[in-house]
Amino acid sequence: MKNRQSIQKEVNELLTQLTLEEKASLCSGKDFWHLQDIERLGIPSVMVTDGPHGLRKQQGNTDHLGLSASVKSTCFPTAVTLASSWDVDLIATVGEYLATEALKEDVSTLLGPGMNIKRHPLCGRNFEYFSEDPYLTGRLATSFVNGVQKHNVGTSVKHYAVNNQETNRMVIDTLVDERTLREIYLPGFEDVVKNAQPWTVMCAYNQVNGEFCSEHNRLLNDILREEWGFEGLVVTDWGAMNNRVEGIKAGLDLEMPGCAGLNDIRIVEAVKDGSLDEKALDRVVERILALIVKSKRAITSHEQFDIDAHHQMARKAAGESMVLLKNDAKALPLSSSETVAVIGQFAKTPRYQGSGSSQVTPTKVYSLCDALNEKLSAEVCFAAGYRESGELDAGLISEAVELARSVDKAIVMVGLPNSYEAEAFDRIHMNLPESHNALIEAVNQVNPNVIVVLSNGSPVTMPWIDKVPAILESYLGGQASGGAICDILYGDVCPSGKLAETFPLTLEDCASNANFPGLPKQVVYKEGLNVGYRHFDSHCVRVLFPFGHGLSYTDFSYHNATVVSQTDEQIVFSVEVTNSGSVAGKEVLQLYIEKLNSQIERSKQELKAFEKVDLQPGESKTVEFTLDRRAFSFFSSASKQWEVEAGEYHIHIGASSRDIRDSVLVTLVSDYIVKPLDASKRQTVMTDQQFEALLGRTIPALQTMTPFTENSTLKDIQSTWIGRKVNQKVVENMAGSFGPNKPSEAVLLMVEKAIQGMPLRSLVLLGGGKLKFEQIDFLVKLLNGHYIRALGMFLKRKK
Ligand code: BGC
Repeated sequence: MKNRQSIQKEVNELLTQLTLEEKASLCSGKDFWHLQDIERLGIPSVMVTDGPHGLRKQQGNTDHLGLSASVKSTCFPTAVTLASSWDVDLIATVGEYLATEALKEDVSTLLGPGMNIKRHPLCGRNFEYFSEDPYLTGRLATSFVNGVQKHNVGTSVKHYAVNNQETNRMVIDTLVDERTLREIYLPGFEDVVKNAQPWTVMCAYNQVNGEFCSEHNRLLNDILREEWGFEGLVVTDWGAMNNRVEGIKAGLDLEMPGCAGLNDIRIVEAVKDGSLDEKALDRVVERILALIVKSKRAITSHEQFDIDAHHQMARKAAGESMVLLKNDAKALPLSSSETVAVIGQFAKTPRYQGSGSSQVTPTKVYSLCDALNEKLSAEVCFAAGYRESGELDAGLISEAVELARSVDKAIVMVGLPNSYEAEAFDRIHMNLPESHNALIEAVNQVNPNVIVVLSNGSPVTMPWIDKVPAILESYLGGQASGGAICDILYGDVCPSGKLAETFPLTLEDCASNANFPGLPKQVVYKEGLNVGYRHFDSHCVRVLFPFGHGLSYTDFSYHNATVVSQTDEQIVFSVEVTNSGSVAGKEVLQLYIEKLNSQIERSKQELKAFEKVDLQPGESKTVEFTLDRRAFSFFSSASKQWEVEAGEYHIHIGASSRDIRDSVLVTLVSDYIVKPLDASKRQTVMTDQQFEALLGRTIPALQTMTPFTENSTLKDIQSTWIGRKVNQKVVENMAGSFGPNKPSEAVLLMVEKAIQGMPLRSLVLLGGGKLKFEQIDFLVKLLNGHYIRALGMFLKRKK
């Protein structure tokens, strides 16, 4: 890999030879997945592609929702699953495997990991994100990025920033106060930038506090580059560009996908008329050239990979990540002398990844039935129990019940069908399909030994929880998930996953629920810091399963929690953990910090360190954690900096946020005097006045639907006759991406929601040059009933 100086030298040489037009042309893609090349200077076109848990390299039709075919690649477990491993080394290794697959396909940059915070359990894309906790998110993303980039393949950490819902994601204005932004939504990005320098950061579609992320000077230039020292390139999410020239000024480098150079013209004009300083353009072009130069290895190495070895790695990763939620009376592991039946269509046609841009074409799929047949060397007894779509079928339930009567234990595999969670829309409730709940209840009537295996990308309710002895959360475990489930069910792998998110009892228990998904054009984060366990633990809210929870087939005891050393700069804490059970296993030690008698609004406790330890039966290990001052700090709304409040803190060490095993008291000194704004009292869900005091201004008035603009969505314009016709046309065009196969109901739903959420400008940006900005202007005039002006425009173009 070239070093920084030689890259810079090559970039500088190229830059001086570029014409203004060539510079502008580099600022957007050549097509859906490639950067622009410049033949006369030998600048190649490099490819970027999704991500994050496998490679979605499309060769024919292209789209940003995973509709058209892509080359086969290993489907590793999705982020929600991998995160539950709490295993930074494992995640780095998965990153390395992904990089090899990218190198085989000449892909320069993998568009992932997704690292938005799970603000609410219903976000449709939660399966693609790591956690509700920023510290955990940052640590895992850093490992992932380091793993991929070790092989000179780039990453794109996404979606920067505050993109925590799918509803209206392309236009919504997210209002968030500075402290919440700094403590919840940004620290993950800050960690990965400072500790892994991702080659690229992908900006989100939405607006933050009134500005689109694609032209957010504060987020891109001030925070990302100036404060955190980001050296790479910022790319738009696909179709997220709002105003190209403003974007350049704000530090947005690459617009994707390409829209046939339509924005290049605007860039050139702006430089010529003086509204854009060419130096700002040069900085952008330098960063794009640097990415191209760095990508040379990717486009020349043509590496190969071993499909089976990668499949086995996917199985291992899934096995290390799945979470044993409940295991009464040691119902698991199963013994080979017990008779079992497998019930649930997901055991045969598994749901192992989510729908949307992250959806890959796997090299193979290994279901639970496949794995059990192999393990038991016989065809396992199976009943479907429900239709694949989730529909209730009384006949299928009766068959399952009959089967369950005759065996010792019934493994019932249920979860969320594709139509329940996907990119482009949010879930509407937290329940499993009725048919799945009914199946569990019915089977349970004839066989009390029901082992529930869940396949879903985000929390679900479990009305039958007290009736079943065991529940395994397999999440969306990738193409080898069936093997991993089988490994855990039979004890070949000792479960060691821990939830990276809370499973609440009801949606109403979540503080964000009152403002999710918000209004069509605005969502106000009035819950502030009350996200996930921070809220549940601070306000003693009962939960179904707490953050960090996960059982094992062995037991762990904690001893000798102690502070080894303390200076002004850091505290070293240690604890000894022993495997006191009878099988080998892994424990995730979780360290939380609590400020006692705090004068400011503060969560009861915050995760600040963790470590996964592998222990043989009877073995003990001493684990040390080094905590810097930042681990004890809060972001002051008054001083606009990280500050430490003087006084006493508890360092808690535990097996989940609700299973603290030991605590040590430390005292910190600090000069900082808490200011009234830090100490201001708020409700769990802030009032408008409380929120405005933190925001420093009033909540902006809601935008009216009319007059229509280029940022009106296709849903907005459906109130007009012309709007309905435009919608129809776009749907017809999208249908072209499906090829000869009829799309499923779930895919149709995703496409419909995606289309409705698109602003008019993205018809140009995602249209590959088929539509021009002037045509959108013309359409907007018509939609607003300005027929004369539209006619004028039409005639002017005719001349
Ligand atoms: C998604 C991104 C993805 C891009 C390209 C967008 O719809 O939000 O995460 O990388 O499409 O497929």
